[in-house]
Amino acid sequence: MNLSITPGTNNVGAYINNIDLKKINQNQFIEIKKILNQFGVIFITKQNLNPESYQNFAKNIGQPVVYPRLKGLDKKYPFINVIERKPDDKNLSFGSSWLHQDTSYLSNDRPRYTMLMGIEIPLGQGNTIFSSGFNAYKKLPDKIKDQINDATGVFSSSGPIAITRLEREKEMGIKSSDSIEAEHPIVKTVNGKKTLYISPGHLMKIKNVKNADANRLKDYLIEHVNKQEFMFSYEWTKGDICLWDNLSILHMASEIKNCRRVMHRITIK
Ligand SMILES: [Fe+2]
Repeated sequence: MNLSITPGTNNVGAYINNIDLKKINQNQFIEIKKILNQFGVIFITKQNLNPESYQNFAKNIGQPVVYPRLKGLDKKYPFINVIERKPDDKNLSFGSSWLHQDTSYLSNDRPRYTMLMGIEIPLGQGNTIFSSGFNAYKKLPDKIKDQINDATGVFSSSGPIAITRLEREKEMGIKSSDSIEAEHPIVKTVNGKKTLYISPGHLMKIKNVKNADANRLKDYLIEHVNKQEFMFSYEWTKGDICLWDNLSILHMASEIKNCRRVMHRITIK
C-alpha cells in the first residue's frame, strides 16, 4: 500500500494522510476504495473541494444517487445534498440520537456508502459518532454469534429514529410519507470479515434466531453496538471528508445547539 493511513480512535476507520483529492490518479482511487472497504470509514481532512471535484470524487467511488428527502445544492450538482442546521433549530439534528445504517429499510438495490464534507463547522460541537460493526461483531461471545448466524432483521423507515422526522413533518403540516420496510441478514461479510448490520434506528425485530429469545437478543445487540469501546466521535474541521460503508459502520450525529452547521452529503451505490 502506498497511501499513509492512521487508524481512528478505538480502531474505528482510518485517516488517509497527506493526500489532495484534487490531484490523485486512478491507482490511488483504487487504493482509497480498498481502505474504505477494509476499515469501513475513511477520514480525509481539510480537502475543501468545490462541488465539481466533490461530485467527481464520489463518481470514482461508485454511482452517486439522488436522495429525494433532502435539499439539493443546485441543478448542476444533483447528487450533492445540503444538510443545514440553523441556530434556532430546536429539534434534534438530522439523523441524530440513534445509531443507524443509512437506508437499511430499502431492499436489495439500496445505496451502500454515505459521504459528508464539512462546509460550515461550529466550534466544539456537532461531532459525528461512528461505531464499527466489524469490531462489535468480533467482540460478541461465541454463543451469541451462533444464535444470530442466520438471523434476519426487519428494518423500517418509521423505526425509532423517525420520531424526529415525524415531529418535524407534523410541525410543518406535511403529510408523512408511507413507511418502507425491508429484511436483511444481521450478520454480513464485507471484505472477508463479518460485521453486525443491525441499524438500531430502524430495527423493528429480529427473526430466525437460534435457541434464544429474539426480543432480548435485539436489546442485547443494540446495547452492544452502543458501547464506548466501538465508537469514535469525529470532531470536524472545515473541508474534512468522511466516507463510510453502511454495511460495516453505524453512525449518529451528536447533539447540537444554537449554531449553524452546513454539510454537503453524497449518497453512493
Ligand atoms: Fe444517517
